[in-house]
Amino acid sequence: MPGTCVIGLQWGDEAKGKLVDILTEDHDIVVRYQGGANAGHTVVSSGQTWKLSIIPSGILRDGVACVVTGGVVLDPAKVLEEMDGLESRGIRMEGKLQLSDRAHVVFPWHIVEDRLLDGSLSGGGAIGTTGRGIGPCYRDKVGRALAIRLGDLYRDDFRARVEHVVDFKNRLFSSWPSGTTAPLDAAAIHAQYATYAERLRPHVADTNAFLLDAVEQGSRLLFEGAQGALLDIDHGTFPFVTSSNSSGVGVASGSGVPGRWVNRVIGVVKAYSTRVGGGPLPTEQDNAIGMHLRERGREYGTVTKRPRRCGWFDAVAARYTARLSGVDELAVMLLDVLGGLDELKICSAYEIDGRRTTQFPSQIADLERAVPVYETLPGWPDELDTARDEHALPLHARRYVDRIAQLLGRPVSIVSVGPDRDQTIIRDSGSARRPWHPLQPANA
Ligand code: IMP
Repeated sequence: MPGTCVIGLQWGDEAKGKLVDILTEDHDIVVRYQGGANAGHTVVSSGQTWKLSIIPSGILRDGVACVVTGGVVLDPAKVLEEMDGLESRGIRMEGKLQLSDRAHVVFPWHIVEDRLLDGSLSGGGAIGTTGRGIGPCYRDKVGRALAIRLGDLYRDDFRARVEHVVDFKNRLFSSWPSGTTAPLDAAAIHAQYATYAERLRPHVADTNAFLLDAVEQGSRLLFEGAQGALLDIDHGTFPFVTSSNSSGVGVASGSGVPGRWVNRVIGVVKAYSTRVGGGPLPTEQDNAIGMHLRERGREYGTVTKRPRRCGWFDAVAARYTARLSGVDELAVMLLDVLGGLDELKICSAYEIDGRRTTQFPSQIADLERAVPVYETLPGWPDELDTARDEHALPLHARRYVDRIAQLLGRPVSIVSVGPDRDQTIIRDSGSARRPWHPLQPANA
């Protein structure tokens, strides 16, 4: 069975990009199947930094096909910007990148709606979206009447569809206070998107057909999840979530490839917690600890540059999403960031209204009242960035990782100690299936 899947188990930004880049070596096709230009992934290789949003980082490797499926909402301007950036640095796209004709297209009205509607949650507060039109585009997809898919850009009635939607949206926007937004110009939008369509044409394909053929022929697929499972529209911290299924449950629906083709699910966590935007973060440290994590971890949004909220590792939340996503093994990223702290805390339970629980609440109001119950572990003063195998890690770092594995009930197969590809401890796939045991001698 050919498929591997990488899922973030927290609120996104778990350094999945680096992991996907490493795993790409053993795969033929990298598949991006949900989200849109709200995601950002950074890959550092041989001193070069690559920042990508929609195009899978597999594009950096020869002989790897990259597929963006129908579950993604696609902003053509952003995709072309990324393609131009890659091409200017010598990365060729021909024959390597496919974009699904089923993908829904982000239009200027989606960006306007995102800006105007965030902050209007029924209970008050703002989601703090990335402003990339993601939620409004998914809303139109589900609503159908105002949706336009990538394949529609090549149809004779494309102009009429744009006019129809713009007419509707302008009437909608005119009911907002005057001056909130200028009327949309259907002719200009059509002309712009027709130009985008021509440039994208060589890449647009029926990716379902391509992927289903590929799995039947034994190709090795790598599914790259965007955001994190706690931002899943159905199973995350609703309403402070993104608009797609960012947990493991979204792989099949987003890609069109049945889940039975995925035989290895890697859950990615960073060694602490971060969140960008609104919503509860029970272990948040709005203090010197949080500052330490933010500065050492360079915790600023890839897309929006917003400072990320930082806190201790939350094992209640990550255990929930590991189970939800069917995770086989764990990758613990950014372990080096914890260096220099005297002691570390892991949240292993919540207290909600005086009752202790290890179950992640389904209701946001309960999560907002959750008080973390912490275990304290000793820290380590050393820098970890030169460690290349688990035995080179300080004992306390190994114990910390071991505790995460125990609390989440899954082995840790990968530990990252720095942004570069090389700064990664990978245990062979055989040992990945055995419980992580930090105290084993090197030759055991
Ligand atoms: P949207 O996806 O732009 O609608 O934003 C919804 C929520 O998801 C906001 O809290 C965003 O900050 C968050 N979000 C969206 N994409 C990412 C991501 O790639 N990493 C982290 N948070 C994200």
